[in-house]
Amino acid sequence: MATSVTLQKVVKRYGALEVVHGIDLEIKPGEFVVFVGPSGCGKSTLLRMIAGLEPISGGSLFLDGDRMNDVPAAKRGIAMVFQSYALYPHMTVYKNLAFGLETAGMKKHEIEPRVQKAADILQIGPLLGRKPKQLSGGQRQRVAIGRAIVREPNIFLFDEPLSNLDAELRVQMRVEIAKLHQSLGNTMIYVTHDQVEAMTMADTIVVLNSGRIEQVGAPLELYNKPRNRFVAGFIGSPRMNFINSRFVTSGDETAIEINGRIVPLQRKITAAKAGDPVTFGARPEHLSVKDQGVALGPAHVDLVEHLGGQTILYVSMKDGQALAVVLDDQQPVRFGDTVNIHIDPARCHLFAADGAVL
Ligand SMILES: Nc1ncnc2c1ncn2[C@@H]1O[C@H](COP(=O)(O)OP(=O)(O)O)[C@@H](O)[C@H]1O
Ligand SMILES: [Mg+2]
Repeated sequence: MATSVTLQKVVKRYGALEVVHGIDLEIKPGEFVVFVGPSGCGKSTLLRMIAGLEPISGGSLFLDGDRMNDVPAAKRGIAMVFQSYALYPHMTVYKNLAFGLETAGMKKHEIEPRVQKAADILQIGPLLGRKPKQLSGGQRQRVAIGRAIVREPNIFLFDEPLSNLDAELRVQMRVEIAKLHQSLGNTMIYVTHDQVEAMTMADTIVVLNSGRIEQVGAPLELYNKPRNRFVAGFIGSPRMNFINSRFVTSGDETAIEINGRIVPLQRKITAAKAGDPVTFGARPEHLSVKDQGVALGPAHVDLVEHLGGQTILYVSMKDGQALAVVLDDQQPVRFGDTVNIHIDPARCHLFAADGAVL
């Protein structure tokens, strides 16, 4: 069964220190939601309050409309998977999966099919007789996920479950967790500081910063229409370039000044006036060195990375501001070259001094 999760003005305080500042969030039944944000922004704290592992200092948590603030963790129908797998080293994989159900008083004949089903889903059937030390990191993490599956929870919570795995295995497990969601259909909340994991796995991403929500939306919505400079810089890799600039004219014929050059932006902006400082945002993959779109000016090539399918340039503009440029394919650009940077005006982002999008 899939369950809805509603947070209303949820606050967390440790003594006098408030670390989560009134979170409002609505998660639909069956949704795969990713909490993403820098280390220390409150992701784990929020997840642990939903799980019931941490008391809620203010506001309300509802699961399917029922207030859960005072309901103990074991009665919330939630299973959580952590970064550290914490398997019992002296028990077999089978026993690790069965143990929680045994202590809950479930009978052997009820436990057996649940363990088999979880083992089938995770393809660890052949490993059931092994001890954790005879498993690879990825297999251990699969057993940890299996321990959550056998409980048949309404909601799965994951707290950075892949952080201990090497890069290749992380990609593989990412796909497996996404498939798991497709086959089970449960509500899942997944915490990560890795924006690529967030982009690839989520139906909905919640971007957190210093205990507050910056933006909630589908991955491409956040990529295409970040609400502020924080989200713009956090979502997307390599990260968005930011250039200090100022308005020359605003209104119907908005233009900004970059590097002493007037750049017309072919869009209407009325929330700022001539002379106001503005941050110009351009994703590396939206910049080009071809003569198309609007010219941002000449730049010196400081470094070139030839990746085969892409070429990444690190350049500096005349005034010293640095930019990354991602070009398709293999390009004959070399260190020391001068390139003329261009951008499609439709792909420019502009932010006011307070970081809000213009
Ligand atoms: N038990 C605690 N006592 C005091 N402060 C805490 C405690 N646990 C977490 N914090 C603080 O709360 C903030 C959020 O922490 P956390 O939720 O672990 O962040 P994240 O998971 O996003 O890295 C951090 O500033 C952290 O130092
Ligand atoms: Mg954490």
